[in-house]
Amino acid sequence: MTENTLGYFRKRYNYTGRILSGSFSGALQRNLSQAIVHLEALDRIGSPVIPYIAAWRPDGGHIWYEYAGSRLHALLGLKTAELADAFREHIITRCLYRLQKTPPAVDKIIRDRPQLDRMRGAMRRIAERGGAVEAVYKIDVNGSPVWLKDLARLEMHGQDRVVLSYGSLIDVTKEMQLEERLSEVQEELTFHKDNLELLVARRTRELHRAQLDVVSRLTQAAACRDGDTGAHIKRLSRYSAILGRSFGLSKKANWVLFHAVPMHDVGKLGIDDSILRKQGPLTRHEFEIIKTHCRVGADLLGGGSTLLEVARTIALTHHERWDGSGYPQGLTERQIPLASRIASICDVFDALTSERPYKKAWGFEDAVGEVERLGNIYFDPQLVKVFLKNLPEIKQVYLRAC
Ligand SMILES: [Fe+2]
Ligand SMILES: [Fe+2]
Repeated sequence: MTENTLGYFRKRYNYTGRILSGSFSGALQRNLSQAIVHLEALDRIGSPVIPYIAAWRPDGGHIWYEYAGSRLHALLGLKTAELADAFREHIITRCLYRLQKTPPAVDKIIRDRPQLDRMRGAMRRIAERGGAVEAVYKIDVNGSPVWLKDLARLEMHGQDRVVLSYGSLIDVTKEMQLEERLSEVQEELTFHKDNLELLVARRTRELHRAQLDVVSRLTQAAACRDGDTGAHIKRLSRYSAILGRSFGLSKKANWVLFHAVPMHDVGKLGIDDSILRKQGPLTRHEFEIIKTHCRVGADLLGGGSTLLEVARTIALTHHERWDGSGYPQGLTERQIPLASRIASICDVFDALTSERPYKKAWGFEDAVGEVERLGNIYFDPQLVKVFLKNLPEIKQVYLRAC
């Protein structure tokens, strides 16, 4: 390029690049100068797109700028000659968005300063191979970060050993500030959600404990009125859990059974003492009143949790019998819920082996014999088999009580 033309360029376009004044081919200089003239025209009409031309040697060295639109100077407060250093020194992140087909998503790759410093050469080679650059830069030159979206087409000039990047920058600061705020809000939300979940879990545990506490007090109150003891309730839970586990109930279901069984007679709270504690035989009418403890118990329990629902079922149906001779509904065989079929065997067995004001305690073998005899009459025969199969464990609970 002649000194005259170069002088004109320097003056007219504040040209501080290297190609027009260096030892590059005339063809390259001509094409570049024409491009600068065109981009300058675009810049002058106030296009929101900021045009630029950058260049670098493919075999290494820093980038330099041949041209940059006036809006970039205004935005960063820098001259063209200062741009390359500024981009190298003040870029905070470089962000790349890639569209993913399966599953449909936008993949966002963010590189921070240390990564950019390390990967500069590799990234440049990838861009050269692809013939294009597309990224969003966050850059902070004067204390207020700006985001610039960069779209560029690369031209390799092998003969001149130079790569030219014809690009456009768009100021996307507002959009990216919004995106940053959005991800901050999302992080805050996740934090609060995690806290809330912890709180709910803690409150649920507390509620559970409170519920168990109320239930156990109710159960004990009912047992005391009947002349039963706390020990009867504990043994009943243990016997039932042995049967439940051996029958194949899950750990959770067996836990529910263990805690629900003690509530079977809670309805006795509603029966008058004169009947409940009567020493002699009950009249027909008195027995009819005793029978109501199943429905009273069911009314007291239920709702709110699986535990109370199962407790309600047991309270209502623990006096039903396999052959249909029980009460209050006269259910038969598998119409009787499993939890109640288990509870009734254990309740009768423990009542037999316990001393009451009106009877002596049966011996272990005699009580086992009675349970066996009542299989298929009062009790589910399959569960009686399970009971007999687990006699060693049942005996351990029995002996601990003696
Ligand atoms: Fe009962
Ligand atoms: Fe009982």
